[in-house]
Amino acid sequence: MGWTAAEAREKIGEEHARVRMLLAEAERLSDGRTPRAFVEAIVSLRRFLALHNFNEEALLLPLLENGGPRSSKLAQRMIEEHKAEHIALRNLLSSNDPDELAGALPDLATKLRHHLAEEERTFLDTRLLGAKAEVG
Ligand SMILES: [Fe+2]
Ligand SMILES: [Fe+2]
Repeated sequence: MGWTAAEAREKIGEEHARVRMLLAEAERLSDGRTPRAFVEAIVSLRRFLALHNFNEEALLLPLLENGGPRSSKLAQRMIEEHKAEHIALRNLLSSNDPDELAGALPDLATKLRHHLAEEERTFLDTRLLGAKAEVG
């Protein structure tokens, strides 16, 4: 099935909105009053991020590779940065201990929000994407 650049952009944009929502929910629950609900919120965020990271690469990389020369460079950069940043984010989220997670959350939140904003500014820009991608 082929996705147009606009469709892929819209889908990834919606997922980013959901990541921000789950992150805000985790932050809201990080005050130590309901540790179990907090850990559950982190687990939800972790799961959704894994799905999102997969979709992002499956949808956007073929579009970037079909785009212009600037896109190919961006695609390459995206693959490398994605690997490094996603590993860093996963490490910050890897604990199931509420105190450890609450300690890691401010750093995680800053890095994650930066990652989303950077993606929206760069490779979610439709001008950089090819018209259509074939995604199996
Ligand atoms: Fe990403
Ligand atoms: Fe993303």
